[in-house]
Amino acid sequence: MVKLFEPATFRGVELRNRIVVSPMGMYSAENGYVTPFHLVHYGQFAMGGAGLVYVEQTSVSRPGRITNGDPGLWEDGQIEGMAAIARGIKAHGAKAAIQINHGGRKSGQQRAFRGNGPLTDRDREMGEESWQARGPSDRPLGEGWPTPEPLTPDGLVGVRDAFVAACRRAVLAGFDVIELHMAHGYLLQSFLSPLANFRTDDYGGGLENRMRFPLEVARAVRAALPSATPLFVRISATDWIDGGWEIEDSVIFARELKALGVDLVDCSTGGNLVAGATNSNLKRGPAYQAPFAAQVKREAGIATGAVGMIRTPDLAEKLLQDGDADLIYLARQMLYDPYWARHAAEHFGLTGDFEDWPEQYGWWLAKWGGALRAAGETL
Ligand SMILES: Cc1cc2nc3c(=O)[nH]c(=O)nc-3n(C[C@H](O)[C@H](O)[C@H](O)COP(=O)(O)O)c2cc1C
Repeated sequence: MVKLFEPATFRGVELRNRIVVSPMGMYSAENGYVTPFHLVHYGQFAMGGAGLVYVEQTSVSRPGRITNGDPGLWEDGQIEGMAAIARGIKAHGAKAAIQINHGGRKSGQQRAFRGNGPLTDRDREMGEESWQARGPSDRPLGEGWPTPEPLTPDGLVGVRDAFVAACRRAVLAGFDVIELHMAHGYLLQSFLSPLANFRTDDYGGGLENRMRFPLEVARAVRAALPSATPLFVRISATDWIDGGWEIEDSVIFARELKALGVDLVDCSTGGNLVAGATNSNLKRGPAYQAPFAAQVKREAGIATGAVGMIRTPDLAEKLLQDGDADLIYLARQMLYDPYWARHAAEHFGLTGDFEDWPEQYGWWLAKWGGALRAAGETL
């Protein structure tokens, strides 16, 4: 039995397989609104056979955007564009997820493909807007980065309510799964990590205090979502830095998330400080983050997603067979091959003659494949 192609069900939402297109910011929204680019971009992954297709990190507020090119769900007008994407994904048999985020002290930076650093005067001359970033404390991400303004108690309530409102809009747009972004140094993760959170109130200090705000957000969102809508959370399982957030903290946090009704923890890592200082203990390699998904699953008793340099169907299958994770997330490999899931099914001999492909393609490919075979060639 190939586990990668076994359906997985969360709160009654059935994924046709365990292949997930990981959230990937495209930095191509206009004024917080998605464009035809996004419609085509996300639709191709659903046609390519994935079980769950994520729409990229989407901001709860205008100043919560990481870049000028981030989409948002901070106003009702943004629902329709997102709804078209969700419909497009679902029309091709995948389920649609969306990742909801606030950029925190990383808000207001360059689009990744334009440098991924703080905005420069040149960026501003090119029309990029800049704004005041907010965070748990006034500690910038690193040298040369803007100093964030610490969120006040009222500010925290505002951000929590913005998460709830954005998640409600995501449900109205037709998304099947909602994910809260609590990884990569953005606002919610920066509350968790002792490398970013230097507050002296109830939201800083010991682990319990640092978990308080992210858990308040998750609890409020869970309460606002329909009970049939799964809630996932992406974490950075470790900061990869001595004295930072560690896997043991992630296990404790995942237990808390599970208790309040979170259905899956998607285990990424890092992102808390800029390159150079960041990830000092990190060694990248195939599936290098999967051991964290395995540990969270085993010790917190919650479903997990494994992500990071998982490229081959055999490796994806092995992680599932070993019980390391419930879902396999792929990012860059999906950009390279949006039909990865269909090619993986071929690899395992689960489809012979393109019968599972969109019928508009499959009929032709079956005939063409036959003709090529007759001529001694293959597709
Ligand atoms: C273009 C691009 C954009 C990304 N944007 C996001 C994002 O919006 N949210 C997120 O949690 N991770 C984001 N990531 C990280 C990926 O989801 C994934 O965790 C990472 O790329 C490792 O997986 P991979 O080795 O399969 O690429 C992004 C990655 C890429 C390549």
